Amino acid sequence: MGAATPQDNHTARLSDRLDTSVPHPARRYNYWLGGKDHFAVDRHSGDQIAAVYPAIRTLARENRAFLRRAVRHLAAEAGIRQFLDIGTGIPTADNTHEVAQAVAPESRVLYVDNDPMVLVHARALLTSSAGGVTAYLDADLRDPESILGADELRATLDLSRPVGLILAAVAHFLTDADRPHEAVARLVEALPSGSYLALSHVTTDFIPAEIVARMTAEVAAGRMRQDGVPRSRAEFARFFAGLELVEPGIVPVTRWRPEVPESERPSLAEASVYVAVARKP
Ligand SMILES: C[S@@+](CC[C@H](N)C(=O)[O-])C[C@H]1O[C@@H](n2cnc3c(N)ncnc32)[C@H](O)[C@@H]1O
Repeated sequence: MGAATPQDNHTARLSDRLDTSVPHPARRYNYWLGGKDHFAVDRHSGDQIAAVYPAIRTLARENRAFLRRAVRHLAAEAGIRQFLDIGTGIPTADNTHEVAQAVAPESRVLYVDNDPMVLVHARALLTSSAGGVTAYLDADLRDPESILGADELRATLDLSRPVGLILAAVAHFLTDADRPHEAVARLVEALPSGSYLALSHVTTDFIPAEIVARMTAEVAAGRMRQDGVPRSRAEFARFFAGLELVEPGIVPVTRWRPEVPESERPSLAEASVYVAVARKP
């Protein structure tokens, strides 16, 4: 037998990281969205959360719809042609490059995620329209320098021109010890004036107190795994320090440039997510 090739080593590392014994946020989100890329452990975790907060699938769909509306806004109205989408998720409908390139085929997108399952599916993200570019980087939001210093970033994005930084439903996977505000601020710092930040983040602000209390009790009893950190409006607002909020500012997800009347939208309790888009002056 010959020596292991770099490809063999990479594949081995990948399978080490593809742990099917613990739930992964990307796979669980895919389950809630009705996708096919999840394991029993993810479905179990997803069902445990849904048993306490049955609206979780609605929340996931509304978050995904915000991502689409925000990217379309940036491409169509703000003229953004480069996107850095961190916390990409497993490819599904309306991936960032599809939405942006439907408006402007020359759009360039760098996707970043730290989940090996997303890496496995990255090829599906690399189907750029002719004239545009998509690339994928296996990296972690907790280490912004590993993103900013990556060859993939330099090859895909021109940091002398505005970039749309997309952080949809990812910052809540960073604990306070991970310093999420500092990580986002570092990324924004590296982008030129005229760039945008679009960010969505789970909160418990709109969830009835009895449901929040039940979730807390389930986690404390070890029956539910807490791998997300809901944040308050004030904590959410800190992500946008020094930036100019685009109308309608910081709002619950269903109220950001909605496409259907309020009577057709879920209640705030069913989609307890803060969102905002802001411009770097
Ligand atoms: C709930 S999904 C959101 C997917 C997509 N952004 C959306 O809004 O539809 C969260 C994604 O963030 C990724 N993620 C979680 N923590 C991360 C980290 N520290 N660095 C990079 N990606 C992370 C997960 O692997 C997952 O793919």
